[in-house]
Amino acid sequence: MSEIDWERYAIDYDVMCEANPAYQQNVQHLLDRLDQWQLPASPKVLDIGAGTGSFIVAMSEKLSDAQFTHLDFNAAMNAQALNKYTALGIDIDIVQGALADLDMPNYSQDLIICVNALYAMSQPQAVLRRIRRLLKPNGRFFVIDFGREMRVVKWSYHLYVALLQQQGARGAAKWFWRNREVLRQNRIGMRAQQQGNYWLHSPRQFAYALESNGWYIEEITTCYLGDCDLAVCRPF
Ligand SMILES: C[S@@+](CC[C@H](N)C(=O)[O-])C[C@H]1O[C@@H](n2cnc3c(N)ncnc32)[C@H](O)[C@@H]1O
Repeated sequence: MSEIDWERYAIDYDVMCEANPAYQQNVQHLLDRLDQWQLPASPKVLDIGAGTGSFIVAMSEKLSDAQFTHLDFNAAMNAQALNKYTALGIDIDIVQGALADLDMPNYSQDLIICVNALYAMSQPQAVLRRIRRLLKPNGRFFVIDFGREMRVVKWSYHLYVALLQQQGARGAAKWFWRNREVLRQNRIGMRAQQQGNYWLHSPRQFAYALESNGWYIEEITTCYLGDCDLAVCRPF
């Protein structure tokens, strides 16, 4: 049974994200919306499946007084995130585990984000319900989820074009060789999707899953070259 090895994925994850314009756009999607949301002073913010912490790092500039919680079950991802948080002086609670392991009061969070992690969880519908209970009644949930089957050739081309501009043809070729492990994990992820191990959804199915698990959808759109659904929700 195929599943991404997150330990191995973590090794070159940030290098891939930095080179990937579509990833940077995802970060920007969140930052653009943060300005509109008018969160309270010292907001409580939880990132589920936070990986190497790039989204919390990006938010921390705008939300300098936030109380961040980073949740991820993978130690290698968390170690990389901790290095970044420490270097930037971000005071944060890192919890290693799944959502079910999180000891957090209900109705305590002002903002919960979950970026490209829900699809990999074994019970995404139950996770959606648990997230709703963790949010304050006027809190927001920002979710991006990889719902379509990954086409590795399309993504490799997207990366290649970006790297060509950044580093030239030799640099791009070297990059692909140096970071072959993360690309291998992407191929494993694609196989996992094909085998039904990861949740695939159309925008319509994603909206239905959110609504039927108690969410009022403020906004829904696609991003990440059309492969992801992005939604901003409030508890219903
Ligand atoms: C593709 S990465 C996304 C990381 C980060 N959100 C980002 O966008 O950069 C998916 C992350 O979800 C984590 N993850 C997957 N399943 C999980 C689960 N059941 N509980 C907690 N974390 C999980 C993985 O360890 C990995 O760090």
